[in-house]
Formats: sequence, structure tokens, C-alpha cells
Amino acid sequence: MSTATMTLFHNTASPFVRKVLVFLHETGQLDRVALETVALSPTSPNAAVIANNPAGKIPALRLADGALLHDSRVIVDYIDHQHVGEPLIPRDGASRWRRLTLASLADALLDAALLIRYETFSRPQEKHWADWLDGQQAKIIRALGEFEEAASAELASRFDVASIGVACALGYLDFRQPNLAWREQFPQLAAWYAEVSQRPSMLATQPPV
Ligand code: BEZ
Repeated sequence: MSTATMTLFHNTASPFVRKVLVFLHETGQLDRVALETVALSPTSPNAAVIANNPAGKIPALRLADGALLHDSRVIVDYIDHQHVGEPLIPRDGASRWRRLTLASLADALLDAALLIRYETFSRPQEKHWADWLDGQQAKIIRALGEFEEAASAELASRFDVASIGVACALGYLDFRQPNLAWREQFPQLAAWYAEVSQRPSMLATQPPV
């Protein structure tokens, strides 16, 4: 019998959903959440998702009392407060702000990658805006440069909000930009990712093939 008391609105292609799922795996709470798959795009919002979530975004987490949490930053914070182990988001001190800032940069990389995905996949080719696409791609490369600096010490030090965010961002790049060849330019990041991508939580949440 299912012990799930919460519902996660999700889609296996979403890197922000993946982040939430990795948090659930890493904190041993996967069985508390039932998954409800939703397909959505900027032009076709999903009625069940927008009912209590005007932005219509996933992931969204419905709690046992019916309250709805979004977005992924809020959900992972909630999940982190629901377990007794070592927090994956440091509660205070300088490490809290540094780890959250690295996580925020991973989200910014993902925002840029998703904008590129929407522009190139959803919009007709004659409407693509090349300079804008280049600007988003440059943001991704700058973020990878900072992660390269952080890879061997900061990212490798623990698998927490920062490392999970970066790992899910790299997974999404491999999924949607398989020709990017970022590993050649960022070898320390590549070595770190080769290791963390083998964690059970990452293997269990890979994007669809
Ligand atoms: C994708 O197909 O890349 C995607 C799907 C859902 C959410 C985010 C990204």
C-alpha cells in the first residue's frame, strides 16, 4: 500500500523536477510522494497545475493538507526540513549563502538552457533571434566556468543543494545540448560529474532517452 501523502506534479524531462526528485532520494523520502505526470508548454498550461499556481510551473508539490508549494527552490527547502539527517541546505553561516548562491547559478544556467530549448523547439525557425540565443548560450558557458573553479573543492565537498543543482544542470545540458562538448573545456567539472552522476539518486532520475 502506498504511504504517499503528497503529490508532485512532474515531467521527467524537467531538470527542476529532477532536482526535487534527487532531494527526495537523498533524504530517503521518495515514498512520501506520489508522482502526477503533466505535459505543459508556455502556450498550453495545464489546468490541474494552474489551479493553485498561477504561473503554471512544474515542479509543484501538493501537501497532505492540500496546500501547494512551488517552485523547486521552495520545494527542496520544504523537503530538507522534513528529515532528521544532515541538512542538504546549510541552516546558517557563510556556507548557507555560498551554497545557495552556487545553487542559484545552476538554476540560472537552467533558465538559459530552457529559454534556448523553447526558442529553438517551439518557435518557427524564421522567428529565431540569433543574438538572443547567443546571449543565453554565453551565460551557460560563464556559469560552467565558475563551476569549473568550484569543482574539485567546493562541489566535491558534499552532495547538497549546490552540488545537486549543478549535477542536474549538467544532466540537462547533456540531454538537450548533446553537441556542446563542455567536458573538453571544463575537465575538473567533467571529472566531478562523472563521479556524482553514478549516485543512485542521479541514476534513478535520468531524463528520458
Ligand atoms: C524539456 O523537454 O526540455 C522540458 C520539459 C519540461 C520542463 C522543462 C524542460
